[in-house]
Amino acid sequence: MWHTLLSLLAVVYAIRWIVNFRQAARSLSNLPGYRTLLHSESNLGNFLPKIRGIVPGTNFPFIDKHSVFAWAGCDIVGHVSMFPCKADIVVADAAVIKEITTSRSRFPKEVTQYGTFSFFGPNILASEGEIWKRYRKISAPSFSERNSRLVWDEAVSIMNDLFNSGWENKKEISVDNCLDITLSFSLYVISAAGFGHKMTWKENKAIPPGHLMSFETSLYTVSTYVLQRLLLPDWTVGLTKKTSQIDLGFKELRSYMIEMIEARKNSEEVKRHDLLSNLLLANASDGESEGLNADEIISNVFIFLLAGHETTAHTLCYTFALLALHPDEQEKLYQHIKSVLKDPRVPTYDEMSLLTRSMAVFNETLRMYSPATLIPKCSAEDTTLTVPNAKGETVVIPVPKGTNVFLHIPGLHYNPKYWKDPFSFYPDRFMQPNWNKDAFLPFSAGARGCLGRKFAEIEAMVAITMLVSQYKIAVQEEPRFAGETWEQKKERVLKATRVLTLTPVKVPLVFTRRS
Ligand SMILES: *[C@@H]1O[C@H](CO)[C@@H](O)[C@H](O)[C@H]1NC(C)=O
Ligand SMILES: *[C@@H]1O[C@H](CO)[C@@H](O)[C@H](O)[C@H]1NC(C)=O
Repeated sequence: MWHTLLSLLAVVYAIRWIVNFRQAARSLSNLPGYRTLLHSESNLGNFLPKIRGIVPGTNFPFIDKHSVFAWAGCDIVGHVSMFPCKADIVVADAAVIKEITTSRSRFPKEVTQYGTFSFFGPNILASEGEIWKRYRKISAPSFSERNSRLVWDEAVSIMNDLFNSGWENKKEISVDNCLDITLSFSLYVISAAGFGHKMTWKENKAIPPGHLMSFETSLYTVSTYVLQRLLLPDWTVGLTKKTSQIDLGFKELRSYMIEMIEARKNSEEVKRHDLLSNLLLANASDGESEGLNADEIISNVFIFLLAGHETTAHTLCYTFALLALHPDEQEKLYQHIKSVLKDPRVPTYDEMSLLTRSMAVFNETLRMYSPATLIPKCSAEDTTLTVPNAKGETVVIPVPKGTNVFLHIPGLHYNPKYWKDPFSFYPDRFMQPNWNKDAFLPFSAGARGCLGRKFAEIEAMVAITMLVSQYKIAVQEEPRFAGETWEQKKERVLKATRVLTLTPVKVPLVFTRRS
């Protein structure tokens, strides 16, 4: 009797779920696309690899690239999931994406997707509306032209320190994972140029008195494990050595940030107009509601530290991997740099606009390995989006109020409508004037476009130009991979995973000094 009743209940529930699921799909006129049991951005779905029909997988936008749109014959697809029951829209059409990014009131940023980043409190990345406007107003002056020079000079001195002190001017340097180098480089740049906290290649690994972990390690621990830390309840913290290390990372990072803030508050040197001064000035000067409270300062420092170094580090690592795999492109770049600099010397900020090939190589890397793969927006009203399908007919897609709309960056960046031969590393495509600016969105766009874009471009120009002008880059030869074809090597070296952003797995490179 009970047994029958339970089975009956189970059947009723199952039917209800299926009905809800179908209703969700119908709300988007049964737009083809992803149909899964779990949502990719749900807590569990965030960790699971792809299982057909169950979860799309952590890194699905990068893995699928444009293929799902090609299959659907349309550059907008649906993503309907049963748990939670929802129907999202996923877009890879440049004109539609432009429409979305340029109307912030119609399609605001979907900030609930950024909960992870609010660990230390409210901040510029994970906010919308008036609060976001306030943060943006306070931080934006830190990214002015005057500070661009500061970023350039700090990046140059960090690269010089890497060659002279980190690598001791050796003829040949072998690194098991180039990411270790680029992560340190970009962290030192944001620390120095954003927060006046200088770090060096020789001393940074040491643990200062009063700490149990280095600043660098604490930041990496937080960026690697922030998702896990948020999912696990506080009492699990002391359970294993790993979980207590993770917890220590969070505590240490907080105390390093507080030290940076205190040091600046107590220093005479208020002439600097970097990010930290602006965040602190907002607290001190115009008081009242305009100012930032202590939590907001900490949280925004955290976001700028994290966003300011992780994405650039990953992209630079892919840049050097791609150059190592394409010696012909590396040679073209080297010749170009030589033609701009004339003699072997360090590039100056005023030469940045002449270093077009360094920029093209960086852009091409960003096209192929964009750190952010899905940009979440939300529809603030009942509306429609219009897109041509493969047959050239116009399709009108209903977008009910509250629908999540995801910009699918790899879908856009590998869309053959805009990019010829999209799987080839071909920096020259950016050297011609007619590439489609709307089909390239590594920094998002519109009002919510990346505040640090210029900052990232500057430090990347310095790193690429200085490294390529002084060293030859190659993939490490390892006996166990002796029988590999070029394609296999390429796949191994460029392998990607997703933690917070697209992350290279292991990039073993050799740098050989030229002359
Ligand atoms: C901000 O200002 C308030 C009041 O002046 C002060 O108590 C607080 O410590 C300041 N916070 C920071 C992080 O500077
Ligand atoms: C690189 O991309 C940016 C947009 O992010 C663009 O403004 C710039 O002109 C591009 N430059 C080159 C040389 O590709």
